[in-house]
Amino acid sequence: MITKREIDDILREYQKGKITIGTLGSHSALNIFKGAKEEGFETVCICRKDDEIIYRRFPLADEIVLVENFSEILCDDIHQRLRQTNTILIPHGSFNAYIGAEKIRNELHIPLFGNRELLQWETDREKQREWLQRAGLTLPKTFKNSNDIEGLVIAKLPGARGGKGYFLANSSEAFHKKAEDMIKRGHLRREELENIHLQEYTLGVNVYPQYFHSPLKNEVELLGVDKRYESAVDNLGRIPASEQLQLPSNPTYTVIGNIPITLRESLLPEILRMGENVAKMSKEIAPPGIIGPFCLETVITDELEVFTFEISARIVAGSNVGIGTSPYAYLNYGEGMYMGRRIAREIQIAIKNDELSKVVY
Ligand SMILES: Nc1ncnc2c1ncn2[C@@H]1O[C@H](COP(=O)(O)OP(=O)(O)O)[C@@H](O)[C@H]1O
Ligand SMILES: [Mg+2]
Repeated sequence: MITKREIDDILREYQKGKITIGTLGSHSALNIFKGAKEEGFETVCICRKDDEIIYRRFPLADEIVLVENFSEILCDDIHQRLRQTNTILIPHGSFNAYIGAEKIRNELHIPLFGNRELLQWETDREKQREWLQRAGLTLPKTFKNSNDIEGLVIAKLPGARGGKGYFLANSSEAFHKKAEDMIKRGHLRREELENIHLQEYTLGVNVYPQYFHSPLKNEVELLGVDKRYESAVDNLGRIPASEQLQLPSNPTYTVIGNIPITLRESLLPEILRMGENVAKMSKEIAPPGIIGPFCLETVITDELEVFTFEISARIVAGSNVGIGTSPYAYLNYGEGMYMGRRIAREIQIAIKNDELSKVVY
């Protein structure tokens, strides 16, 4: 495991006036790079050939390091290159997805803006539930066995898949029938069947608040709220019910993009407290707790009850809706604040106060 001490040793060698902000070219990289540029940093993008067009057409990366696949970031020569340019990496959703939490903890010898331990918590549904529950949040019920299914459940396939292949069932029979269908369609492997997570389906609307915990100010800020635009569930309503009934397949929840939301103001007290409680609890479960961005995935019912079903312990792609500004960032900062920039701002302040070690792990 990479120790804090090792990271501090690397940091000590860094030229603090010449820090580079780096990340993988994917997910929220444009958001991160734009924010870094606006705060005066150099930027480096670890990029796959196919994606290079993004970072050429939106020229925010000062340097592009081409790789065959993202796990090459673990190689010695890239490590050296990144350290020579005093790089701090900003983890986003593709880090866990393509490098893996375990390798991030053990093999990524580059200073990271964030808490490596909590990145690992987010890959484990049980651990996530523990974190959220201990923070006092309301969670949807889960069912250990398909025979216990009561009411409508959402069946979630193992691993982070952006909702791909998830399906609904209201009984054990329906569950098995649909699971077979998912296997046939290639969304699911038979040996994964028993690892499917069955969760009470909460009827309401999806709301994803994006928070930033500043270890320097010891404060949680709400920077934006979004919802996801998911294919094909989000457009089922465009076809008549009679045609819906005849659809051969189960709809899935594949994320295509994000849509900004402003919440009714009466929901803000709870949303703000939830963020604070999650940050507070993070200090207990994995000191020093969450560093920088995190996001809760919630469903809000018509009774205005907020159910939280997941947490992301890093920047989420939903914060891309706030590039430039969002209503909540605007209320705090005026023009021009958003998650990518807020990250860079925290690093900038840390450098100025000689507190970089407090935000980099
Ligand atoms: N308990 C739930 N009730 C209603 N909808 C849900 C529930 N859990 C998940 N969803 C829907 O399924 C999508 C994917 O679920 P999620 O748990 O976020 O999976 P992933 O691990 O892929 O991020 C969500 O964005 C949401 O639309
Ligand atoms: Mg999710």
